[in-house]
Amino acid sequence: MNVCESDKLGLALSTYGALKVDVLQEADVVILNTCSVRAQAEQKAFSFLGRAEEFKQENPGVKIVVVGCMAERIGSKIKRRFKNVDLIVGAKDIDNAILKIADLCNIDYSLLRKIEDSSSNVVRYVTIMRGCDNYCSYCVVPFVRGGEISLNALDIIEECSLAVKNGAKEIMLLGQNVNSYKYKDVNFTSLVKKIAEIDGLERIRFMTNHPKDLSDELIDMMATASKVCSHIHLPMQSASNKILKAMNRKYTYEHYVGLVKKLRTATPDISITTDIIVGFPGETKEDFEETLKAVKEIRFGGLYAFRYSPRPDTKAANMLDDIPFEEKKSRHTLILEESNKISVEIVASMVGSVQQVLSEKIENGVIEARTRSGRKVFVKDRNEKDLGRRLNVSIKEAKVNSLFGDII
Ligand code: 5AD
Ligand code: SF4
Repeated sequence: MNVCESDKLGLALSTYGALKVDVLQEADVVILNTCSVRAQAEQKAFSFLGRAEEFKQENPGVKIVVVGCMAERIGSKIKRRFKNVDLIVGAKDIDNAILKIADLCNIDYSLLRKIEDSSSNVVRYVTIMRGCDNYCSYCVVPFVRGGEISLNALDIIEECSLAVKNGAKEIMLLGQNVNSYKYKDVNFTSLVKKIAEIDGLERIRFMTNHPKDLSDELIDMMATASKVCSHIHLPMQSASNKILKAMNRKYTYEHYVGLVKKLRTATPDISITTDIIVGFPGETKEDFEETLKAVKEIRFGGLYAFRYSPRPDTKAANMLDDIPFEEKKSRHTLILEESNKISVEIVASMVGSVQQVLSEKIENGVIEARTRSGRKVFVKDRNEKDLGRRLNVSIKEAKVNSLFGDII
């Protein structure tokens, strides 16, 4: 979601003639878009701000802007600690960020042309909802992004159509819990069906899903709508019912496994990926073993594992963070080792097969593409003409998460 918002901000600024630069030292305006979900992300932002301030000391004309979740959560603290920051725009005010940045840089706002999205990316991210109402006990998102709002379905469809007109072949729909999308009489399944009608659009993906809201209707639609990819990101977080309850996730492990079965029955080649938190308060060795066993049994297509860190305002911040850091680290490593082992087996089993891929990028003659299940596939010695095309690739080699092959 942050990547999507950064892209939008970049796009809006480019209508003023701004150019994106790759290194700090070339910038006139430094904009830091921040995330507060985990403590680690905030630490990274602090150290970047330190470097940005040093740069500004040598180049006083430079402006520093902080936007997003950290700006929302601790804007005044940032201002106190980093005196050279010029502007802070919180996540709830992100839509006004461009106006405020224009003001800061003394740009006449009337010069802003209508933001015509002319980016030619093959894959486009489209936000369909903001905020979250779920209050998982570890999560800061409802506090920094506010309550859940579903955006206007007609606007979303228009944004997707425009993106396709500009060359997008795949749309990734974004929201904290897309399964609870509801705008007037349009729910998530009907929204996806409407987007699938756009001529020229090849693929639709979406994230993130919540196991408590994933409907049979959506599972059926994924199995039948040919443009919808056979991949679902379905955060499990833990397989211990005790921990799931303490996390306020509102489903049991049995319910989660039931969804996995339904998804795999409806779409046999589906890849299910997940998020896992290790070391949540009160997670005993037995609770953790249940999660590790689930990872082995479910055989996720991939996963993100996180060491629990207390976040301010959340319910879990009042619980005793009782799992020592070393123990969190070792549980984290065990989950990742198991998941990598499974990934290696899955990709190895794909060697010799022919995969239909969509080519997303090209660099030094190497095409980066994706299968419908979301695996990366690289093809050497190709040219720009292949960009945005659906290709059939014979898979010759596999590494942990990626495949390599030739076009047939
Ligand atoms: N500590 C560790 N991981 C967290 N996540 C969210 N909050 C925390 C936290 N306090 C993880 C969850 C979520 C993902 C985006 O980040 O797994 O699904
Ligand atoms: Fe956070 Fe839970 Fe909302 Fe996801 S569903 S953003 S984990 S509160």
